[in-house]
Amino acid sequence: MTPAAERSSTRPSKTLVTGEFEFSVADFRVIADIAKTEAGIDLHESKATLVYSRLAKRLRSLGLATFAEYCATVRGNDEERGNMIAALTTNVTRFFREPHHFEHLRKDILEPLADRVRKGGRLRLWSAASSTGQEPYSMALTVLSVFPDAAERDVRILATDLNPHVIAHGKKGQYRKEELVDVPQNFRSKWFESVPGEPDSMRVCDAVRSLVSFRELNLMGTWPFKGPFDAIFCRNVVIYFDRDTQGMIWRRLSNLIVNDGALYIGHSERVSGPAVDILQAGGITTYRKKSGVRQ
Ligand SMILES: C[S@@+](CC[C@H](N)C(=O)[O-])C[C@H]1O[C@@H](n2cnc3c(N)ncnc32)[C@H](O)[C@@H]1O
Repeated sequence: MTPAAERSSTRPSKTLVTGEFEFSVADFRVIADIAKTEAGIDLHESKATLVYSRLAKRLRSLGLATFAEYCATVRGNDEERGNMIAALTTNVTRFFREPHHFEHLRKDILEPLADRVRKGGRLRLWSAASSTGQEPYSMALTVLSVFPDAAERDVRILATDLNPHVIAHGKKGQYRKEELVDVPQNFRSKWFESVPGEPDSMRVCDAVRSLVSFRELNLMGTWPFKGPFDAIFCRNVVIYFDRDTQGMIWRRLSNLIVNDGALYIGHSERVSGPAVDILQAGGITTYRKKSGVRQ
């Protein structure tokens, strides 16, 4: 906790949101401080109502009466801090979100690598904030459109996210039928299977799932792999970070991309900081690592 948050948590503090639970400015600061330090998430007071509604469920399930009690609990309890961060994350995603990225991946990254991969060369892709799996599975379906036998090749897709609940969902690979509207019909019939007893859902086939490894990973922590990756999708996550943190993440990601490899970012994001010097624009919210950069 910052000294300011510490000081303000020891004296009565203005109520920020009125409702079932008392939620003061000091409580908000404690929560915002933890979200920033642990997950890079930069919360402004304008988000107080959102924070309240996302955490109210946690207070109910713990049987607490005020956010001050919740803050005290979170301070001394790693597991609840994890639950709090998970509850604060926005996990909205969908299959083939921003379809131009998958077009670019197919035409400009995968097809040019076809010879290398067919001769046994490696192909590595990373979905760095995978949420519930729609993004890495869209990458896998794009890979399969170029390499239908990808499961027998040296092809891997890493899918990581901070939130263990979304990682578990991704591993399961089961989605409601209405979530598949953006999956082309030929992919749907070839790579999804029905789920016994659940007529409204479909599951991603084993051949697709076997290409994707889901892991919990906080982008703010250490990354226990060296890559390099032929392409990284890091979309709609750094938007929650402050500018310095964004620059740091872009730099770390760029260092893990092969020369000429691609970085795909969210529609309202922009690469900033030192990575600007080693990446060049490759299309809408698409960057390529400059060739000749020392790996
Ligand atoms: C809006 S979703 C984006 C999903 C997908 N990339 C897309 O664009 O559709 C943002 C994801 O970032 C994850 N996230 C937030 N902070 C993170 C961090 N510090 N490290 C890793 N993942 C984080 C959240 O858990 C959430 O699943």
